[in-house]
Amino acid sequence: MSQPMPAERESAPLASLDEWEDFLQERYPKPREKSSFRDYGANVRPGVREFYRLNHRHQTLDFVRSKEREFLSLDRRKMGIWEAMEYLNTLVDDSDPDTTLTQIEHLLQSAEAIRADGHPRWFILVGLIHDLGKILCLFGEPQWAVVGDTFPVGCQYSDRVVFPEFFRENPDFQVESLQTETGIYEPNCGLDQVHMSWGHDEYLYHVVKDYLPGEALAMIRYHSFYAAHREGAYTQLMNDDDHRRMEWVRAFNPYDLYSKGHAAPDVQTLRPFYEELIAEYFPEKLAW
Ligand SMILES: [Fe+2]
Ligand SMILES: [Fe+2]
Repeated sequence: MSQPMPAERESAPLASLDEWEDFLQERYPKPREKSSFRDYGANVRPGVREFYRLNHRHQTLDFVRSKEREFLSLDRRKMGIWEAMEYLNTLVDDSDPDTTLTQIEHLLQSAEAIRADGHPRWFILVGLIHDLGKILCLFGEPQWAVVGDTFPVGCQYSDRVVFPEFFRENPDFQVESLQTETGIYEPNCGLDQVHMSWGHDEYLYHVVKDYLPGEALAMIRYHSFYAAHREGAYTQLMNDDDHRRMEWVRAFNPYDLYSKGHAAPDVQTLRPFYEELIAEYFPEKLAW
């Protein structure tokens, strides 16, 4: 019974990456639904809890800096956006293929919900691409370094980050200079100066940052920064621009969390519209 967990399972506590987003939906239900926020810790699935434990334990300032060095040279692949969507779709996990949407389907559902509400074309495009950074998994990165709520490293961990108790296992927690309110940063220096925990948001931001308007880039870079955009934490690091950016992030969030319908979108029918939208903003190939 008490066999040690094989190493691979240790880094893959989630049956699928979607399990994290499913948890977010339970933790942040639509306003008109009964809030389960206060007791999110009680009924959370063990895999999700373990996933957050690993994430909070391992996301140190040194870890983030090493991942920035490793990935932000963007010298792994040259791929177009649709090509990257198909690549992400090759991600196989332990989830049930009959009940789970594919990655392309999740992206199209977000984009279609934004389109249906009459938002600008760049906003629709954000829906389409916002999770493409999850291809980090296909580069062999563990789940806890790809998905999960993001938070600044190099300063105090806010107790408004989910499962804050797990930060006690993080080596940076013992380093006094990294646990003051602003840590290695100047007060209100702006989030541009701040190292965020490493994951799909930050990676994709760097891939697309030359091609999209600032509002779109904010949505991509901070869409998992729930402590800020849902809980109002980390204002000591933000400047006026960041407060404006968070408004955009909040405008995007419902399309990420609540657009998951039961019917899968018809990928082939939608593809021409989205290929045209992609071509409007992006070159044929991007560096990943
Ligand atoms: Fe995401
Ligand atoms: Fe998403």
